[in-house]
Amino acid sequence: MLILSFESSCDETSCAVCRFDGETSTVLSNIVASQISIHALYGGVVPEIASRAHIEAVSNIAYKAISEARVSMAEIDAVAVTNTPGLIGALLVCVSFAKGIAFTYKKPLIAVNHIRGHIAANYYSTPAPKPPFTALVASGGHTSIVNVETYTRINTIGKTRDDAIGEAFDKVARKLNIPYPGGAEMDVLASKGNPNAIPFPLGAIPDDTLDFSFSGLKTAVVNYLHREEQNGNEINRCDVAASFTNSVCKSVIKKLSKALEITGHSRLVLAGGVAANSHLRKALEELSLEKGIALFIPPKALCGDNAAMIAAQAYHEFKAGNTADFNLNAYATKR
Ligand code: KG4
Ligand code: ZN
Repeated sequence: MLILSFESSCDETSCAVCRFDGETSTVLSNIVASQISIHALYGGVVPEIASRAHIEAVSNIAYKAISEARVSMAEIDAVAVTNTPGLIGALLVCVSFAKGIAFTYKKPLIAVNHIRGHIAANYYSTPAPKPPFTALVASGGHTSIVNVETYTRINTIGKTRDDAIGEAFDKVARKLNIPYPGGAEMDVLASKGNPNAIPFPLGAIPDDTLDFSFSGLKTAVVNYLHREEQNGNEINRCDVAASFTNSVCKSVIKKLSKALEITGHSRLVLAGGVAANSHLRKALEELSLEKGIALFIPPKALCGDNAAMIAAQAYHEFKAGNTADFNLNAYATKR
């Protein structure tokens, strides 16, 4: 089965063509147009600018994805699109575009939840994780612990009550004068610093839930930087990045450890843009070794927002009979 998929939930316009053949999933093309350079001027994503940039990019991106995959529209079996969660104006661009394509070429339309898509990025790996498994989805907009019972029976069992991990990375990075989005550069800085230099608080809520709160940790870093500046002390940016990252990793390990005890799963999956973080990857590798479970992390190219991950989930939604009609709408928050 060949799926043409679209993603425009935040600041990346993406279109992919992917083939699904029994157990084999292949990315034929996965074009991603990033708007980062536009939003960097403002220190974060400006929703209306994002929607307008998606509108400008989507036709070319779709054309490129189809040409690079060397397929014709006649060969495409279904059209998939992210319809929730995300920036509403941004989501609406690809939802409308995908509907137009599905209508014109008389193809089934499949709506995909963005978080499910991030998890499904792992299905291109060999071996790929098979449900049931526990997943951590950590991106700029979302942080949740998810119980993936089957490919389409998926429940959030823990989440952040305020900032997402990527958002906290980006906000701390901004305070360290790193341009948006600073997550990747924080990763590099943290490798040169001492993770135990500054005792920042954890982002794991100290209760029985699997929930996080990263805004307190972020504020603790900001307060530390202000205090040091006021006292005329030189700031060791590497130590700040390393200590902040250490707190993030410890928080994640604490709640994931508990989640694995609850679910009893023998497979752990990491997904989302922050899955690219080398320190988080290492912390999860250690956790999986300690617990004797299998760990799955997508290749870096599939960690950030992209349409191939949407196609991977769409395949399973389609197999489960979950197709959309032309009343399909977009929703900023999950329904
Ligand atoms: O999944 P994604 O591309 O978009 C959303 O759905 O939000 O994630 C983007 C986020 C940004 O916050 C970015 O700074 C963060 O992922 N990120 C990282 C790293 N690479 C990207 N955060 C920490 N370490 C990294 N290496
Ligand atoms: Zn995302």
